[in-house]
Amino acid sequence: MRKLYLLFLALPFFSNAQTNPVLSAGNITHVQIEKQQISFKTENAQGQIVVYSPNMLRVRLDKKELGRDFSYAVIAQPQTCNANIAQSEESITITTDSLRAIINKKPFSVAFYTLDGKVINEDERGLQNSWVGDEVTAYKHMQNGERFVGLGEKTGNLDRRGEGYTNWNTDAFGYATNRDPIYSTIPFYIGIHSGLNYGIFLDNTFQSDFNFGASNDRFSSFGAQGGELNYYFIYHKQLKDIIGTYTQLTGRMKMPPLWSLGYQQNRYSYYPDTEVMRIAQTLREKKIPADGITLDIHYMDKYKLFTWDKERFGNPQDMNKKLQDMGFKTTVIVDPGIKVEKGYEAWEEGVAKDLFIKYPDGTNYTGQVWPGWCNFPDFTNEKARAWWREKVKFFANTGVSGIWNDMNEISTWGQKMPSNILFNYDGALASNKQAHNVYGSLMARSSFEGMVKATNKRPFILTRAAYAGLQRYTAIWTGDNRSEDDHMLLGVRLLTSLGLSGVSFTGMDIGGFTGNPSVGLYAKWIQLGAFNPYFRNHTAVNTKSSEPWAYGEEVTEISRNYVSLRYKLLPYLYASFYTSVSNGLPVARSLAIDNTFDDKIYDTQFQNQFLFGDAFLVAPFESTKGFGNIYFPKGNWYNLYTGEKQAGNSEKIVRLSLQKMPVYVKESSIVPMQSLIQSTAEKPSDTLSIHIYKGNLNHTFVYYEDDGESYDYEKGAFYKRAISYDATNRKIVFGAVEGNYASKFKNLKLVFHGFDAQDKIKTAQALQDDFASFLTPISKFDPQGSANAVEGYKVKSVVISNNAKQFEIKY
Ligand code: GLC
Repeated sequence: MRKLYLLFLALPFFSNAQTNPVLSAGNITHVQIEKQQISFKTENAQGQIVVYSPNMLRVRLDKKELGRDFSYAVIAQPQTCNANIAQSEESITITTDSLRAIINKKPFSVAFYTLDGKVINEDERGLQNSWVGDEVTAYKHMQNGERFVGLGEKTGNLDRRGEGYTNWNTDAFGYATNRDPIYSTIPFYIGIHSGLNYGIFLDNTFQSDFNFGASNDRFSSFGAQGGELNYYFIYHKQLKDIIGTYTQLTGRMKMPPLWSLGYQQNRYSYYPDTEVMRIAQTLREKKIPADGITLDIHYMDKYKLFTWDKERFGNPQDMNKKLQDMGFKTTVIVDPGIKVEKGYEAWEEGVAKDLFIKYPDGTNYTGQVWPGWCNFPDFTNEKARAWWREKVKFFANTGVSGIWNDMNEISTWGQKMPSNILFNYDGALASNKQAHNVYGSLMARSSFEGMVKATNKRPFILTRAAYAGLQRYTAIWTGDNRSEDDHMLLGVRLLTSLGLSGVSFTGMDIGGFTGNPSVGLYAKWIQLGAFNPYFRNHTAVNTKSSEPWAYGEEVTEISRNYVSLRYKLLPYLYASFYTSVSNGLPVARSLAIDNTFDDKIYDTQFQNQFLFGDAFLVAPFESTKGFGNIYFPKGNWYNLYTGEKQAGNSEKIVRLSLQKMPVYVKESSIVPMQSLIQSTAEKPSDTLSIHIYKGNLNHTFVYYEDDGESYDYEKGAFYKRAISYDATNRKIVFGAVEGNYASKFKNLKLVFHGFDAQDKIKTAQALQDDFASFLTPISKFDPQGSANAVEGYKVKSVVISNNAKQFEIKY
């Protein structure tokens, strides 16, 4: 009855299309089926559905003819695969080896099913896909209990249900913990319900909007202010494979330079050169390992790009060389604004070569930023990218190893760049509305390509603004956060959300950018930083010094302990980055990746816990808390410091201390570690310790090494071996070595955790001799430096030579 009444009310609107500002796709009127795709017309639109792989379908829809098929994010082509396409009066069915899509014809709507008929995701048939003016939106039926994770660098909770988000890259100085949007755009999210999970990537660079049930209980939706509805639907049984397919589509990172995984000391700004040297020297004196020093805007002459302030930095080449000799690499900041100034080379070139973005009347757009009035290179134009690639040689030639791309939203004072600014958009003129969100990524890409060309080495590239696919060129950090507890914890969620969205190399300003952290907060933050993929200490201009020693003796020691732990863990971390390179899985992992259907991990009191690589469960808490409640997901866990075992599927209240951050190791983990070094320029000892945690899970860790600086690994110059914990057969198998690179470690020291006297550890006959050097017991990781093993806890280790043979350890 109620439905009839609603229909009656609605009729006057829908019977007269002239007065209805909402235009739906309407009924399908024409269908053309090809091998792996269908093209169709509806009453009001045109569309296409393409099978990209058994697990991924692409849906395109536009009011007009479908336009140029062009993307800054997508690099994959459809793979040839089985796709059965059948058509009836009412619908079209596409069946692949892993999913089924049913396209209803009257009106057009899509629903995705598992092969055994469960709904994964379906259009909201009443609301359909529709336009209001140029704004296009896909409405999806909200499934029972549906959760949403991902969407890149978004504030808020891990589970985004009940929230709405906008993608419009924004300079969000000192943003509140619920501010949206902030700096970057990744229109990719993962939906979770009924034991199923799927991914949706809306590849559209216009401002996009996502609604995960904000102010409605009917639908989730995604749409954009212009352009096509163009999305990729991904289905896998396991969430990690969704990330795998998404990163196949938009690309994966390349191996970063090893040094960039070390500690990096920043501030706005270190100058003059003597101050930079003092910081570097003090890090060495205080034995806080470090690899990077970053120069913020004050290194430039009046903030003019591709210049050095001659008074502050008289001989940058010499300074960089000295830093290099001390094991430091220099990163410099670059902003896109080129100062409008007669006689200034970069600006004169930009004008002469016609490289800047323009108003529709052909004059260059001028906006104000650090140097004053500026013009901005059009990074959507290959001509400007080529120019920038050449320009960054200026830095490479003075011994700079990293480029930090900032203010590339584009940020200008006033923050209101006009919509009518024109961009080349690689051959199809676009307004600021379409190009804005992709500008930052393309700037970072140009810096990356230029530095690779100039140095023939892996550069470190960092960006603030970006679009989906950024992982191919650059790391990202979360901009101008605040020195506050909830910002530190928000930072974790930003990093893990970026990780769910294909981006692994992520970091935040340790200590907070605006304001001054308390001693306790600084200590907690630097501990957490040791478990960030990109470990960056940074602070704003006019704040208190943010080097560890500025916070007193105890914090200096805490910092030293955790930074040292990070350096010992570099073999593990490097291999974890290799995982991102090979399958897209992030280094900072949301618990939603492995425990997707465990409701507890979405509980806001546990949502800041994450995995660092596949072994370490990190549980950060506000610095003001004396106790913390930790949730242990399924499996067994070991306290990193005491070795104490903790069964999973349980909560535990732990006492918190200034000195330690709660960290646990998952059972069956394999963790390679090296001796302590002060920078990656220093060689560790020739023994690699491989920590093995007893467990009931079968697990494989891929150990990976290469020269750490070139791209030769792409041609086979790497050392790789799978190390498998085979709990079923009570053995650990070291697979054969792959690749043509000699490991820097001559010996392997196997360290057994959680094994007891009953576990008679044996090796294969061939290795029996090596076991003559069986040692017992040894100390465990103790960031505080105390070498005491916990009473009654036995750890045994053995040193064997690191030959290429496959071997196994039985127990
Ligand atoms: C922006 C950056 C910040 C930098 C500052 C000065 O606010 O986000 O990291 O220090 O500009 O360049």
